[in-house]
Amino acid sequence: MTPRTGLWLVGARGGIAATVAVGLAALKQGAAATTGLVTEGPRLGPLVERLDPIRWDSLVLGGHDIRSTPLAEAARLLENQNGALPHGSAAAYADELAEADRRIRPGVAFRSGPAIERLTEAGCLHEAATPRAAIDQIRADLEAFAADNSLDRVVVVFLGSTEPPVDTASLPARWEELGKTLSDSAGCPLRASSLYAIAAIEAGMPFVNFTPSLGSDCEAIDELARQRAVCHAGRDGKTGETLLKTVLAPMFAERNLEVMSWVGHNIFGNRDGEVLDDPEHKATKVHSKDAVLPPILGYAPQTLVSIESIRSLGDWKTAWDHVHFRGFMGVPMTLQLTWQGCDSALAAPLVLDLARLIDLAQRHGEAGVVRPLAGFFKSPMGASTSDFGAQSRELVDWVASLNGAAS
Ligand SMILES: NC(=O)c1ccc[n+]([C@@H]2O[C@H](COP(=O)([O-])OP(=O)(O)OC[C@H]3O[C@@H](n4cnc5c(N)ncnc54)[C@H](O)[C@@H]3O)[C@@H](O)[C@H]2O)c1
Repeated sequence: MTPRTGLWLVGARGGIAATVAVGLAALKQGAAATTGLVTEGPRLGPLVERLDPIRWDSLVLGGHDIRSTPLAEAARLLENQNGALPHGSAAAYADELAEADRRIRPGVAFRSGPAIERLTEAGCLHEAATPRAAIDQIRADLEAFAADNSLDRVVVVFLGSTEPPVDTASLPARWEELGKTLSDSAGCPLRASSLYAIAAIEAGMPFVNFTPSLGSDCEAIDELARQRAVCHAGRDGKTGETLLKTVLAPMFAERNLEVMSWVGHNIFGNRDGEVLDDPEHKATKVHSKDAVLPPILGYAPQTLVSIESIRSLGDWKTAWDHVHFRGFMGVPMTLQLTWQGCDSALAAPLVLDLARLIDLAQRHGEAGVVRPLAGFFKSPMGASTSDFGAQSRELVDWVASLNGAAS
């Protein structure tokens, strides 16, 4: 019998989550093409298929959120305001969306920052006296999801709004020390994304952080993951402008052209953009988008990344990049490009891919950070390179090696 797998989305009522829910319903009915799904593509698809991956029709959705907007309404918004989902999607999959809605539980907003606190609604928050109590509640929700739906396995993906940065230099390096801070709300340096990560890992469920928030990206939580033999990966899905940067920067490096400056202006208008409009929250995203060039180029050109919320654009992210570079005898030249991408439609298939791939890693006995998934992220944990081509080759080689182990 096909194993039943759960996909638990934190941020389950957001734009990406609603697109995952509609996309999954469409895939189950054979009504959606697999375009955009890396694990269904020509290079990786045949290798993944031999490993008996999660089947879309056996995937059950659940999640946490701190708002009450029903998934159908979130889907309608994408559809009507932005054309980010095909017209009629919310109506066509109303039953599936309502079913997923019933599995969404109140979330945790511990030290989540002002813009997220403004989003929270009464009745959508777990009241927990300490971070440890919040973790235990999240874990109880995850285990109830698995039991109530007769699930063989569950993957947790963090899709919550971006939190302000955490000073990682001040975090204890050992789990034993970090764990002690969880019983004291005032002394705990973590934010909600990390509490979700700890809960998933303690429940033995692989954890993916698709956002720039800290999540599981610190030594102590990685130590916990390795102790519990659980896989984790992140952070910050690489879907648009940064994807282009990590494709183009290697070209400048290979041709020995010197990049003098790289400026990227981003505008978009969904709820993510609204949260990122707050300077505390924006700092996390700008850092994530701005850090990719030096490791590829081997030096640090002058860079500027701006992100502004322009409401009328909804989910359609527009990015203008201006690259000033020089060649032989110092002759200066310019590359300018415009990217217009639909954020949720770019992100949702990658969430499904990541669920499949981290589930494969877990089933093959891996533990800790799954490094071959680096190409999916802007700030990959433990990555050896930021070059997208090299990352893609590493991913294919890794899946091929799992095939070797399977045969
Ligand atoms: N769309 C992309 O291409 C892309 C790429 C990389 C990263 N991301 C990141 O993914 C995340 C989700 O993006 P989105 O467009 O779906 O945003 P969104 O604002 O539509 O959805 C976020 C959801 O998370 C919920 N939420 C916030 N804090 C929470 C908490 N502590 N617990 C539970 N739920 C919480 C919000 O209520 C909301 O429903 C953002 O952090 C974004 O920066 C998106």
